[in-house]
Amino acid sequence: MHVLVTGGAGYVGSVVADGLIRAEHTVTVLDNLQQGHKEAVPEGALFIQADFCRSKDLDAAFRQSSFDAVMHMAGETIVEYSTTDPRRYFHTNVIGGINLLDAMLRHNVNRIVFSSSAAVYGEPLTAPIEENHPKNPINSYGLTKLMFEQILEWYGKAYGLRHISLRYFNAAGATDRLGENHNPETHLIPNVLKAALASTPVWVFGTDYPTRDGSCIRDYVHVIDIAQAHVLALEKLDNIKTSAYNLGHGQGYSVLEVVQAARKVTGIDIPAKLSPRRAGDPAVLVASSNRAKSELSWEPRFPELEQIIDSAWRWMKNRR
Ligand code: UFG
Repeated sequence: MHVLVTGGAGYVGSVVADGLIRAEHTVTVLDNLQQGHKEAVPEGALFIQADFCRSKDLDAAFRQSSFDAVMHMAGETIVEYSTTDPRRYFHTNVIGGINLLDAMLRHNVNRIVFSSSAAVYGEPLTAPIEENHPKNPINSYGLTKLMFEQILEWYGKAYGLRHISLRYFNAAGATDRLGENHNPETHLIPNVLKAALASTPVWVFGTDYPTRDGSCIRDYVHVIDIAQAHVLALEKLDNIKTSAYNLGHGQGYSVLEVVQAARKVTGIDIPAKLSPRRAGDPAVLVASSNRAKSELSWEPRFPELEQIIDSAWRWMKNRR
């Protein structure tokens, strides 16, 4: 299939684009390079520097090639900023998203795989979280992801759009060539590893959560496994009725446990500074991914936290 990957120069998007090429699909990346990096666009992919929020840009892209599907991975992604600047999130993730769907309809493209998030659930009532768990996002980022999932449902019912939303838990790790490179970096694993390289402390945001050691618990998933789930979702899209899948391991690690695992992987005694909570963080997010395993035949290859951290560490050291 020829797939248009929005956000394909970003962290997860570039690894997904790479996975699609390895699975012998044709890829065009559309990215405005606001957060993405041109050098992250995989070899073999066509690249269009454009903004999915602009209809004119999209019409030009859709005229350029005939696409079989869209993987929509572009958007505003940082949970914390979504609590202080929600406008940006609604404009980009919701209004921009509708703009993309309307362009797809205009150009007769009727398949989409969407990067959704564990943030749609809010504070979980049960763990691990299953897909039918109530959705009460506690930040505008999660709300925009949920709104777009609901918009997809209506576009599916009314216009025959085929769609799957993949709710990532915490994407982490790297391939040999592609890793996490945000500016500013807000994510835990790259920040811990940067602290290891720079001999500076890592900040632990919140030690008074109702968890085993007081720090937040997350379910870290290797970005290569996330990419694999996208390829499977695309290939099964025409024959599947389910519209959303969690991607996680059902195993959560606290911030302090991640820091400890990073000390083991790097051999560096990374200092941790305990600090107040960060806005918008739920205490625990751990997935049940049974549905993705049984319906998409998703088989994560890198479930161990230390493997995930090790891949990110090797990538980071090679870039220096
Ligand atoms: N954290 C620190 N220190 C840091 C960075 C993060 O203590 O330097 C803490 C955070 O407060 C949080 C945990 O580490 O408790 C994980 O934070 P990340 O920023 O790495 O990831 P988030 O859980 O905030 O968000 C990520 C994705 C979202 C997704 C969410 C779902 O960025 O898109 O996972 O679990 F919604």
